[in-house]
Amino acid sequence: MSALPTVAVLYTRLRVEEKWIFAALEKRGVPYRRLNDREIAFALHRPEEWRGIDVVLARNLSYGRGLNALRIFESWGIPTVNRARVAELCGDKLATTLALARAGIPQPRTAVAFTPQSALRAIEEMGYPVVLKPVVGSWGRLLAKLNDREAAEAVLEHKASLGSYQHSIFYIQEFIEKPGRDIRAFVIGDETVCAIYRHSPHWITNTARGGVGEVCPVTPELNNLCVRAAHAVGGGVLAVDVIEDPERGYLVNEINHTMEFHTTVPLTSVDLPGMVVDYALSVARAEVRRPSAPLSTSTARAYSASEMRSSGV
Ligand SMILES: Nc1ncnc2c1ncn2[C@@H]1O[C@H](COP(=O)(O)OP(=O)(O)O)[C@@H](O)[C@H]1O
Ligand SMILES: [Mg+2]
Repeated sequence: MSALPTVAVLYTRLRVEEKWIFAALEKRGVPYRRLNDREIAFALHRPEEWRGIDVVLARNLSYGRGLNALRIFESWGIPTVNRARVAELCGDKLATTLALARAGIPQPRTAVAFTPQSALRAIEEMGYPVVLKPVVGSWGRLLAKLNDREAAEAVLEHKASLGSYQHSIFYIQEFIEKPGRDIRAFVIGDETVCAIYRHSPHWITNTARGGVGEVCPVTPELNNLCVRAAHAVGGGVLAVDVIEDPERGYLVNEINHTMEFHTTVPLTSVDLPGMVVDYALSVARAEVRRPSAPLSTSTARAYSASEMRSSGV
């Protein structure tokens, strides 16, 4: 039997990130299984079928598939990266906002309402422009910047009559006049290992929407904020979106629990796939040292990237 833990990689599509992760596993000689979430089925009364897996690394595209699979593995005592609770918080913008607020992390002012009428009142109280976001979503999809009451009325009506129930959880945020860019910072354990600016003439700066990356120096201030933010949602392998407010400085916008890094790796030359794999191996080896309470910053403890590098895994 191999001395190295067996890693199961849960995925939906083989993007470049997954291919790099497989390559990093192979380079280290780590035994691993590929679990396509379109193909797997869990017989909940037969957990023994999954025996031999020491850690699960989740790379699912869908919030629901990833979260539910993580819950199952965790219930069988198999450690996961990230943990189900972390995925649950990060995949839901409202849950993230609440966790960040509890930890005292600066973020844009946010309001939540459940009907178009109450949402309109909350928007008017906040003052235009505001940003309306689906609580579950990514890649900048279905975000709306509302500059005036007419736009607000129209979008709220469309959401209420054309959207699913989920789109009637109105998540409303003040618009931050950021300097034509935001920051995407990568936290692994206790360290911000690298960051990029995402520049765009459009207010939505996601690289999936045409944002262009540039290396962003990780200052102690940025590192500290991002690590605190990551720990506020339970820690692990996380990408933190930061917006620069001209007056208030850094604000944490959201945290992603299945990060993409195809833009960042060539720009920064930081071996993110290797670090993700090393983190998963460290979790498999020492589950006991992981943070136990996702919302408690005091108990949050995960491996730092430098610790992992020095351990030579
Ligand atoms: N309140 C805001 N003010 C200014 N820009 C914002 C605001 N919220 C989001 N953005 C921009 O839109 C992008 C996508 O928003 P985000 O909340 O990260 O959603 P997604 O999950 O789709 O990436 C951010 O990276 C940022 O550039
Ligand atoms: Mg984002």
